[in-house]
Amino acid sequence: MSMNKAQLVTWLGKLNDVYAEKKEYLTELDAAIGDADHGINMNRGFGKVMEKLPTVEDKDIGTILKTVGMTLMSSVGGASGPLYGTFWMKGGMLLAGKDELAADDFVQFIEAGVGGILQRGRPELGDKTMYDLWAPVLEAMKDEAGNASEVIAVVDAALPVAEKALADTIPLQAKKGRASYLGERSIGHQDPGATSSYYMIETLRDVLAG
Ligand SMILES: Nc1ncnc2c1ncn2[C@@H]1O[C@H](COP(=O)(O)OP(=O)(O)OP(=O)(O)O)[C@@H](O)[C@H]1O
Ligand SMILES: [Mg+2]
Repeated sequence: MSMNKAQLVTWLGKLNDVYAEKKEYLTELDAAIGDADHGINMNRGFGKVMEKLPTVEDKDIGTILKTVGMTLMSSVGGASGPLYGTFWMKGGMLLAGKDELAADDFVQFIEAGVGGILQRGRPELGDKTMYDLWAPVLEAMKDEAGNASEVIAVVDAALPVAEKALADTIPLQAKKGRASYLGERSIGHQDPGATSSYYMIETLRDVLAG
């Protein structure tokens, strides 16, 4: 089965709930190795997305995704605003005119989004960023989509990979963003951006499972 627009809109609404619920936790993670604003950033950004969503939810999926990206770009500062802004906007450009996504479309969205993160942030694997989550997740999604799978199977296949990748950020030393200023003291903490990215996958899995 493909992913339809109603599921996309539900996903965005649930993500808003999750970032409200996890606001303090994400901020605590960022307090350990950054400037203690990641939870505030994600909560504010998705709050703004919720304000904009009613104006576009009747439009095609590409328009919705582009609106999410532009809203995050303009309402979330720092590193994660432009990174997540680009992620959703790249997907939106690719999916213009679509009202539902087959597994291949979905994986192309994630691939374009991750490409946007790479372009913006120039992260490398092991730098302790959200890219350390997205790189293996994208590979797992591509592998599963190659089996002519459904979107839910693609997301299901990615979830355990995401879980492991998230835990794997803990022993890394940060090489990007403010966390890199800490040098070896960034070791032993889970990356905040990888954590907020993990919630995207976990929440979508819940939505698609119904
Ligand atoms: N160059 C980068 N490439 C990819 N991801 C990055 C990069 N820099 C930071 N990040 C991600 O952004 C997260 C921090 O997001 P936050 O909302 O706290 O923005 P920020 O405080 O401006 O960031 P930072 O303190 O990292 O410069 C990090 O945990 C990391 O996952
Ligand atoms: Mg921060």
